[in-house]
Amino acid sequence: MSIIAVVNNKGGVGKTTTTVHLAVAIQQFGKKVLAIDIDEQANLLMHLFEYHLVKEIEAKNGAKSPLLEHESGVRVASLSFGRYDRKEYIKQIHALAKDYETVLIDCPPSLEERTLAAIDAADYVLIPTEPEHLSFKGLAKLMSVCDEKKKAIAGVIITQYDKKIAAHNFYVPEISSTFSKYLIKPPVPKSAAFPAASGMVKTGYEWVGKKSNAALDAYTQIAETLISRGIANGKV
Ligand SMILES: Nc1ncnc2c1ncn2[C@@H]1O[C@H](COP(=O)(O)OP(=O)(O)O)[C@@H](O)[C@H]1O
Ligand SMILES: [Mg+2]
Repeated sequence: MSIIAVVNNKGGVGKTTTTVHLAVAIQQFGKKVLAIDIDEQANLLMHLFEYHLVKEIEAKNGAKSPLLEHESGVRVASLSFGRYDRKEYIKQIHALAKDYETVLIDCPPSLEERTLAAIDAADYVLIPTEPEHLSFKGLAKLMSVCDEKKKAIAGVIITQYDKKIAAHNFYVPEISSTFSKYLIKPPVPKSAAFPAASGMVKTGYEWVGKKSNAALDAYTQIAETLISRGIANGKV
């Protein structure tokens, strides 16, 4: 298996959206994929499953997570509600991951215990970021944590790119040159499909159906890159 922690210590940058859509996209290339929600806010679960189901899982607080299957075919496990120490999180992640080729972990928006556990358990860290000042400034800290832990960076991906926003047009090339070694293209453009789909507990791919959508195509291309670089295709 290949475990990829989707991390950024900033909130709202697209971690959950990236985890969901790369999980589907990698699965569409024939891989056996698991998405794990390790964020207490359980946004990945809420994106894909009805609220009452998420609340039922929460009520069992810490009980072993049921394996859920979303209608897209993506399998989902939750470590959102229990509270464990780092070793136990790592053990649980490895136990969940063992039957899958690719495992994506959706992390909380800070470098708290759960995030550090996910990074420790993972083979790679994937960093989504918005092309703007504060997100850009936060990247150095995260890179240094990966460096200290000697953890491989799967890539940096730019999300929510809006070509009408001047700052975005400044920071896309800035991020590309500063992190050229890590950047996986293309930037994922802003698309109304994501908030619309999550409101319907669907993925963007199901939401847009056969219509073409540049943001979803971007995730498909990024998935292809992760596979071709050997990052998203571990052995079961
Ligand atoms: N490419 C995008 N285009 C438009 N909206 C997006 C895009 N990516 C994420 N979003 C929206 O931005 C918000 C924050 O994204 P989310 O993935 O939840 O971030 P995080 O997990 O880092 O907090 C959500 O409402 C999500 O639907
Ligand atoms: Mg999130």
